[in-house]
Amino acid sequence: MHQFRYIGNQLFCEGVVVSTLTKKFGTPLYVYSQRTLEDHFQKLDHALAPLDHLICFAMKANSNLSVMRTLANLGSGFDVVSAGELQRVIAAGGDPKKCVFAGVAKSEAEIEFALRKGIYSFNCESEPEIIRINKVAARLKKTAPIAVRINPNVEAKTHAKITTGTYENKFGIQFEQVEGVYAHARKLKHIWLRGIQMHIGSQLTDVKPYELAVKKVLPLVQKLKARYRLEFFSPGGGLGIIYNPALASGSPEWWKSVSAKNILTPASYAAKLLPLLQPLGLKILLEPGRFIVGNAGSLITRVEYVKRTGKKNFVIVDAAMNDLIRPAFYDSYHEIVPLKKKSGTPIASDVVGGICESGDYFCKDRPLAKVGEGDELALLSAGAYGFVMASNYNTRPLAAEVLVNGRKFAVARERQPVQEIWAGEKIVAWLK
Ligand code: LLP
Repeated sequence: MHQFRYIGNQLFCEGVVVSTLTKKFGTPLYVYSQRTLEDHFQKLDHALAPLDHLICFAMKANSNLSVMRTLANLGSGFDVVSAGELQRVIAAGGDPKKCVFAGVAKSEAEIEFALRKGIYSFNCESEPEIIRINKVAARLKKTAPIAVRINPNVEAKTHAKITTGTYENKFGIQFEQVEGVYAHARKLKHIWLRGIQMHIGSQLTDVKPYELAVKKVLPLVQKLKARYRLEFFSPGGGLGIIYNPALASGSPEWWKSVSAKNILTPASYAAKLLPLLQPLGLKILLEPGRFIVGNAGSLITRVEYVKRTGKKNFVIVDAAMNDLIRPAFYDSYHEIVPLKKKSGTPIASDVVGGICESGDYFCKDRPLAKVGEGDELALLSAGAYGFVMASNYNTRPLAAEVLVNGRKFAVARERQPVQEIWAGEKIVAWLK
């Protein structure tokens, strides 16, 4: 599954002892396994091999240039959600012509930039957006390729903050309105109806909601294909990963409702969806983020103090919610293991950061090996929505990132110098 594992007492990432990385680069430190990235991309790519397809990595999950270059080298396109992300694609050596542009709030400047770079498609989330794209394309004397993002109104059975395919969410165009929107868009001179897209949510661990959503939209996709000669269909991203191999304490409720045979993997995805997608005769796009990068990254942190109160064993570490916000924001589970394996009876522990918020924790009352000051811990499965969601809260510099490939490793992002945090700030004239 991934390349973080013990050999003897030491945690390795591929062929590298992780503690050699922290000695060299310090903590908090994000460590990525190139082999895991490649393996996950290829697993999905092979599962889709019977179809004419393109994987557009949802770079919002991890936009480090080396991570992106790894995927670009395998032929990946990218799902971007801002002009900034498209600029990153170019900086990473990716191909804008293999990019789709998602998001509900594309500005005129962003649309213009994407049109000039010749992206594959705008995935449109409202009628006013399509009208705006047409206007900008007319000004540039271009034709804009678009797809409408259908909101199929299907419950994805995932965390409320990352479900996107119901009418409670701001995303996409309501299923019942889609035909009308295509009919209107058809009349716009600078719009090319290139495809149709959907995305129902993230961290889907059950293949069923996917299957239901695809089955629901298929007749409409066929109709629109025939009417407008569409070229592609995208069922989106959202393939989940296993955060907690034991599926035990702290695991979210939905795990309990998922039966083993429905667990979403490239193989089960292909088994259920290929028979539905193949007869369409369309190019299939997929926009996965987490599945490719989630288990390819860990956040390494050092224990500063252990504080025992009558009630709790607090393990206070040098990473915090500003480095990895997922537990604070979604109550999400990340496995926590020491870099040097420990023996002894596990102690129920709260691993917490140093930020002045009670939400700043990585786990609560979790049985963990006894650790002390100076020990190092790995928060696993932190490759997706980890570094990209980091902030400078409490004037804490952004962590460094390292890429490992076999026995090789190199810095993929330098630790942020603290002065850089306020470099753009000014003391306004009247205060001096
Ligand atoms: N396509 C669209 C239109 C999306 O909105 C997303 C994710 C993706 C693709 C990629 O989804 P993935 O394959 O990574 O599940 N920060 C949250 C996840 C937010 C997902 C936002 N949209 C987390 O840490 O769980």
